[in-house]
Parts: sequence; C-alpha cells; structure tokens
Amino acid sequence: MAVLEIVKIGDPILRQKASPVTKITKKTTKLIQDMIETMYAADGAGLAAPQVGVSLQIVVIDVGEGPIVLINPKIIESEGEIIDVEGCLSIPGKKAYVKRAAQVTVVALNEKGKTIRIVGEDYLARALQHEIDHLNGILYVDLIDEDDLLDEGE
Ligand code: NI
Repeated sequence: MAVLEIVKIGDPILRQKASPVTKITKKTTKLIQDMIETMYAADGAGLAAPQVGVSLQIVVIDVGEGPIVLINPKIIESEGEIIDVEGCLSIPGKKAYVKRAAQVTVVALNEKGKTIRIVGEDYLARALQHEIDHLNGILYVDLIDEDDLLDEGE
C-alpha cells in the first residue's frame, strides 16, 4: 500500500465529473487500498478518487466505525436538513458550516462488486454527501457564501 498525494483546490480534476467504474480489477483494488491508507495518513473521514488524481467514481469513508468503500455510489433518498461544520483534505486549513440532508440512503458497489445499500445519519450522512459531491466536481465551498469560509482554528 502507499500513501498518495492529495490534490488541492484549483486542480481541474476536482471539477471533473468522475467516470463510473466498469470493472473492478487488481488496479482498482490497489487504488482503494491506497486511498484508505491515504485517508488515515491525512487524518480524514473520507476521500474520493479525484482527490488522488484519479477521475473514477470511488470513495472511501471512515467516520470511526471502520472503512466503507463505495464504487459508483448514488444517493437514492435524502431526508431532513442539518447544518454542521465540515472540512476537506483538498482545502487545507479551512472549514465551514454547511447545510446537508440529515439522512441519506446510498446505493453503490462495494470493493467486491456486490451491490450495497447504506442508510447514513448525521456525520455519516454528511460524509456520504461530501464525498459523492466530489465525484460530480462539487466542493463544499460551492454550497456556502465565500464570507462563511472559516480558518480551521476559528
Ligand atoms: Ni473533500
């Protein structure tokens, strides 16, 4: 496994729509393992493939309950509304309060190609929405007013 370099805001790959994964190969599996290692090394709760320079629909998330791997994820249901603080490994040193759905249901493939369905609430719901946004070229700063972007220490 390897810790990969995390792409920062301003890099055009973060603004591209990521392509669906059509076949899970050894290369895909290695990328997923490296993404998990990179997420932990950076002390993040989630990472999307475009953030390591790969425009594919893969995200990894760990909100403290072990790693979740989602390939070609789609939000099929969302409910409620909640505002809470969030940051992004591609926007270092910054954070903001962002309005998100309080609960989402996501359908995806796992790393073995099996279809899975996840219902996330609160912090997991936030991580799911944030990471899936990355696959559509959306960053959390797009969802707030510029004035509402805070320094991490604030
Ligand atoms: Ni992010």
